[in-house]
Amino acid sequence: MINEKMEKAFLEQINAELFSEYLYLSMKAYFANLNLTGFVNWMDVQVQEERAHAMGMFDYLLERGGKVVLEKIEKPESNWNSPLDVFKAVLKHEEYITSRINALMDVAEETKDRAALAFLNWYLKEQVEEEANVSGVLAQLEMIGEDKNGLLALDKELAARTFVAPVIG
Ligand code: FEO
Repeated sequence: MINEKMEKAFLEQINAELFSEYLYLSMKAYFANLNLTGFVNWMDVQVQEERAHAMGMFDYLLERGGKVVLEKIEKPESNWNSPLDVFKAVLKHEEYITSRINALMDVAEETKDRAALAFLNWYLKEQVEEEANVSGVLAQLEMIGEDKNGLLALDKELAARTFVAPVIG
């Protein structure tokens, strides 16, 4: 049976992952309005990944005999000034999620929950990948600047991203 403190921390993180899904859904809508279909695809993959992250913890908590109580999800931002502005927000958000995973691991250490710690290692590695991936797109957007052809070329590139259901844990 999972410790109450650890359970609470997992529940808060499930909410944060579901908020991430909601935020990227909002960004997907922003790009859809700009007719940037490759960016829409990139965000769609991101949305699916966040749902998978949330469900990984959801299933794990149940497996450990915990109780899943869902809370309301915060309203995401819906206005950005440019694709660059969006990706700056994505990186900031992913850095925040990384700090949350680290804090979750602190709780696992505090409560001597080695099983949770081992489980969370997957999320820690995933965050390294997420930040690298987002930083790559952000760097390209910074290079592109106001060049519309550059933006369209990047849009084409982002159309190739596909969702692969992760094996978590
Ligand atoms: Fe679930 Fe993008 O972190």
